[in-house]
Amino acid sequence: MFVDPRTPSHAVPSKFSAFLTLLSVVFAVPSKDPAPEVKESINPPRGWTLRSAAPSHHTIELRIGLPQPDFPVLEKHLYEVSDPFHERYGQHLTKAEVEALVAPHQESIDAVSEWLATHGIGESDIQRSPARDWVTIKVPITLAEKMLDTTYHVWTHDASGDSIVRTTSYSLPKHLHPHIDVIQPTTMFARFKGYKSTIHDIDRSPSLPAFTGDSTNSGAVIDPSCNTTITISCLRQLYSVPSDFTPSAHVGNSVGITGYLEQFANRQDLQSFYADQKPQAVGSTFNFVSVKGGLNDQNASNAGVEANLDVQFAFGLSFPVNSTFFSTAGRPPFIPDIGTPTDTNEPYTDWLDFILAQEKPPLAISTSYGDDEQSPKASPDGLVQDLPSLVHCEFKIPSDGGVGDGDDNPATQTCLTNDGKNQTKFIPGFPASCPFVTAVGGTEFIEPEIGVFFSGGGFSNFFARPSYQDKAVGKFLSALPKGTFEGLFNPNGRAIPDVAAQGERFRVFVGGQVVSVAGTSASSPAFTGIVALLNDVRLRAGQPPLGFLNPLLYTIPEGFNDITIGNNPGCGTEGFNATTGWDAVTGLGTPNFSKLRDLVIRK
Ligand SMILES: *[C@@H]1O[C@H](CO)[C@@H](O)[C@H](O)[C@H]1NC(C)=O
Ligand SMILES: *[C@@H]1O[C@H](CO)[C@@H](O)[C@H](O)[C@H]1NC(C)=O
Ligand SMILES: *[C@@H]1O[C@H](CO)[C@@H](O)[C@H](O)[C@H]1NC(C)=O
Ligand SMILES: *[C@@H]1O[C@H](CO)[C@@H](O)[C@H](O)[C@H]1NC(C)=O
Ligand SMILES: *[C@@H]1O[C@H](CO)[C@@H](O)[C@H](O)[C@H]1NC(C)=O
Ligand SMILES: *[C@@H]1O[C@H](CO)[C@@H](O)[C@H](O)[C@H]1NC(C)=O
Repeated sequence: MFVDPRTPSHAVPSKFSAFLTLLSVVFAVPSKDPAPEVKESINPPRGWTLRSAAPSHHTIELRIGLPQPDFPVLEKHLYEVSDPFHERYGQHLTKAEVEALVAPHQESIDAVSEWLATHGIGESDIQRSPARDWVTIKVPITLAEKMLDTTYHVWTHDASGDSIVRTTSYSLPKHLHPHIDVIQPTTMFARFKGYKSTIHDIDRSPSLPAFTGDSTNSGAVIDPSCNTTITISCLRQLYSVPSDFTPSAHVGNSVGITGYLEQFANRQDLQSFYADQKPQAVGSTFNFVSVKGGLNDQNASNAGVEANLDVQFAFGLSFPVNSTFFSTAGRPPFIPDIGTPTDTNEPYTDWLDFILAQEKPPLAISTSYGDDEQSPKASPDGLVQDLPSLVHCEFKIPSDGGVGDGDDNPATQTCLTNDGKNQTKFIPGFPASCPFVTAVGGTEFIEPEIGVFFSGGGFSNFFARPSYQDKAVGKFLSALPKGTFEGLFNPNGRAIPDVAAQGERFRVFVGGQVVSVAGTSASSPAFTGIVALLNDVRLRAGQPPLGFLNPLLYTIPEGFNDITIGNNPGCGTEGFNATTGWDAVTGLGTPNFSKLRDLVIRK
């Protein structure tokens, strides 16, 4: 069982017994709260079975999200500084400026504090995010039930057997409704894929061709071996990185990879990988940062395929840029019979909390982790770029949209909605569907590179299409034959992916062995490696780093290799087709670094 070695500032246990004693006194006083009103209510989620009442000794970590009244202002700033045609392009906001813009009204902070106080919860019992927009408390489940006028139950996910403690409805005093956007965990049934990657296939076949050396990029001809095995050299050739191009270690550039439960990046495997594919990098390594007690297990038997894949390719491509691996702890699924004492939040949220508090987060961060907005259609992975805005997306994902039916098999996917209406709909991936993330689709083969069948693409049912996509996506939609997939997707939604990169047959070292890995979880670190090189170009030219990429990318489609073959079947259909221009399989296409490096410093 995983033990959470929390830092003292997060820990409540020592205060807890006193706190509980105090509560019994508080409970004796009749509550002055007027009758609570339902804040959120969902239908029992498909694919989950109610098992039992939540054990009364259970504790729960509740996160209370306060409204961010100035978010539209932040969003406006973000688009201005990310728009290459705007005079403020590249003038990124400081952490303090961002925090001021996501801060809730003092009135909301006070209203929530007063409400917590009536339940015996004082300032010393709560944790606040730097911008004070999230309040976190750890309370006995019985108290959470009283505060939210609800009853929590143990629910079991039919397909995986995972259990969680959730409710289908909760209420708050009426006067609090305008001061609280969301409280979780309550009605959110997302599973975030068991904190695993979206690795599609692992072929442990020993018959992989031996690597033939760091071949020189002649510019035109791609090494034919790249059709069956992807290496750092292949990606450099495919994406037109000149053979003499090396980024600088001294211009303040940085790149990060997120890892979650049991995904350990092994340093020895990285050395083996470098010896095989990037000899100049042998002897170099990455920074390790533990988030909420995330471990750094270097036992080769426990090396994570996903973590090793991400680290080897993102850091191998961007060497010698300062590279950091973030290991976030996460609890295993709640097991009611063993009586896991605390049901905590998603490690994803823990990681966001942590990174938001950093003065200098990495300039590009790849995350191969997520869930579908609702259910499982293969989803592209993302390059996280605007952290505060990503948190805002979290607010906006409705909880009844967080349910996955756990069916990863395209053949049996029903793609029915979980809103009680059993509608059939394409379900895009989250957080890739967030408009502030660059979603990376997958390709395979060379000459031509084609969209791979598991490349997640589509249209968000929750986030409206951002204006930076209007032209490219509008063109794609108007070229679709009339009536295509009518009712199955939301043509006005945020469209994904934005871009693509190879996603098949990556040559990865895991536990001392060579394996071949496929998945859009390979595409995301590959694309992120190229972005780190582009940041190098800008920093060396004395310009600020790229920041949030998407508005720029859609103005420079000529910087991409347009992928026009391939489709992404799912939900009993053949899916969308890759086409000329942007498409819902490969986005704008795969990067051409030689072109992009001129385009990104054009200004
Ligand atoms: C790459 O492999 C695919 C599938 O085997 C094949 O159809 C294609 O012709 C190959 N391309 C090259 C350039 O060898
Ligand atoms: C490494 O992990 C494996 C499996 O988890 C375990 O059997 C082995 O004893 C560990 N080795 C060391 C040196 O701890
Ligand atoms: C590299 O990144 C780490 C982690 O963010 C940071 O602590 C360190 O100072 C950086 N090193 C350099 C040389 O910039
Ligand atoms: C939706 O489907 C489930 C199982 O397929 C069924 O039990 C349920 O009654 C259906 N609901 C509606 C509203 O059709
Ligand atoms: C994809 O292309 C095939 C072959 O040209 C065509 O039959 C199909 O209708 C297209 N699908 C969509 C969604 O455009
Ligand atoms: C990438 O751009 C360079 C420079 O414009 C060009 O020479 C090269 O052919 C392009 N690569 C591909 C694959 O189109």
